Amino acid sequence: MAGGQEHWNAVYGARSEDELTWFEALPSMSLDLIHAYLRPGDPFIDIGAGASRLVDALLEEGFGPLTVLDLSAAALAVSRERLGRKADKVAWIEADITTWQPDRDYVLWHDRAVFHFLTGAEDRASYARALSDALRPGGTAIIATFADDGPEMCSGLPVVRYAPEALAQELDQLVPGRLEMLDAKRHLHVTPKGNTQRFQYSVFRRTYANDIVAPQG
Ligand SMILES: C[S@@+](CC[C@H](N)C(=O)[O-])C[C@H]1O[C@@H](n2cnc3c(N)ncnc32)[C@H](O)[C@@H]1O
Repeated sequence: MAGGQEHWNAVYGARSEDELTWFEALPSMSLDLIHAYLRPGDPFIDIGAGASRLVDALLEEGFGPLTVLDLSAAALAVSRERLGRKADKVAWIEADITTWQPDRDYVLWHDRAVFHFLTGAEDRASYARALSDALRPGGTAIIATFADDGPEMCSGLPVVRYAPEALAQELDQLVPGRLEMLDAKRHLHVTPKGNTQRFQYSVFRRTYANDIVAPQG
């Protein structure tokens, strides 16, 4: 599969994390959004986290329990090594999001630059099912992709670019009525070499649709 585990292990093996185009010393946009929807004690998962420093910041701020999932063992190893003993406070999952089956639920699902690699309809459907299953009703999903006027490739792989409305429409087709859009922002990412990439960050709430018991009050 293009963009499979071998591709990503090779990418993280070949260059240090701060040389990768998607590197952020401080993932400010993600943190700003997470602060609005997550409280300490709420379970959080970063999907396709790579070697992102988001988990470092959340640990530092006292959030948790934290789970980090990625297809690439090499990427997870970079983060674990950087965190040292603090890594023991995090649940690390090496898995492909298109086949992963969650065994617990989460209050916040964060994905920066992973969903956009899913160019096949079946992979997107699997992702949406995992998202819908993993997210607690009332919980929040933050999904950042290249914007509709962003780059057409990432890490040498083709991507699907989204305007927030198109992403909302796509997800609603895959898991009808399960996600409602709360917010959307555009973001200009500056790569380590100084190039710019346009992202969109969309925020969704997992509805109570199809759940037997609705919340009181
Ligand atoms: C562009 S990087 C973004 C990493 C991180 N989210 C960040 O913002 O720094 C994409 C990441 O998605 C991971 N990935 C790609 N396809 C995946 C899949 N099917 N399941 C899980 N992770 C995947 C890659 O290993 C890589 O770490």
